[in-house]
Amino acid sequence: MASSFSLNSSTLLVLLLALLCCLQCSIVDSYDLLVGGPKGWVVPPSNDTDLYNNWASNNRFHVGDSIHFKYKKDSVMEVGKENYNDCNATQPTFFSNNGNTEFKLNHSGTFYFISGASGHCEKGQKMIVRVMIQDLHSKSNGYHVPIGVFEIVFVFAFVASYVI
Ligand SMILES: *[C@@H]1O[C@H](CO)[C@@H](O)[C@H](O)[C@H]1NC(C)=O
Ligand SMILES: *[C@@H]1O[C@H](CO)[C@@H](O)[C@H](O)[C@H]1NC(C)=O
Ligand SMILES: *[C@@H]1O[C@H](CO)[C@@H](O)[C@H](O)[C@H]1NC(C)=O
Repeated sequence: MASSFSLNSSTLLVLLLALLCCLQCSIVDSYDLLVGGPKGWVVPPSNDTDLYNNWASNNRFHVGDSIHFKYKKDSVMEVGKENYNDCNATQPTFFSNNGNTEFKLNHSGTFYFISGASGHCEKGQKMIVRVMIQDLHSKSNGYHVPIGVFEIVFVFAFVASYVI
């Protein structure tokens, strides 16, 4: 009698753990994207000068996401709209040239990036990233967690009702 009980509850425990793992996955919801895909941050080929803006418009960015720039002998700058249009690299609001730059999209709205290497921006190594305004369906931290906790409590109540 007792043994069939313990078998039953340990099976449920495994199910519970599996469910917790699933919840854990849904809680991890900030993305870290490699700009431009495997090729990274380079001067685009001359027949594909919109490469980075095409890449950006094929992705949905949320506040809290990070984008990664990978490059060699180059740099990344965040600039204002006009300096983006003019490829003016004299006054960036952000600059990095360490070859592996993580940039956190910490607010909604538009970010403008250019290469700081001479002539690269003019050849299309530039990118506009639009970060969506937060809404209830967005994958930001905080919204999923209370739901997760609620589900865990629910599952515990379910398991308890089985075992007792
Ligand atoms: C650009 O040219 C290369 C080789 O000439 C080709 O493989 C590639 O598909 C072209 N890209 C575009 C976007 O047309
Ligand atoms: C580049 O931008 C700065 C201000 O951000 C401005 O003072 C400067 O004149 C600009 N240079 C050119 C060549 O447009
Ligand atoms: C975003 O990050 C930049 C650079 O770290 C900082 O200057 C800015 O205040 C931040 N904005 C918000 C809304 O946190």
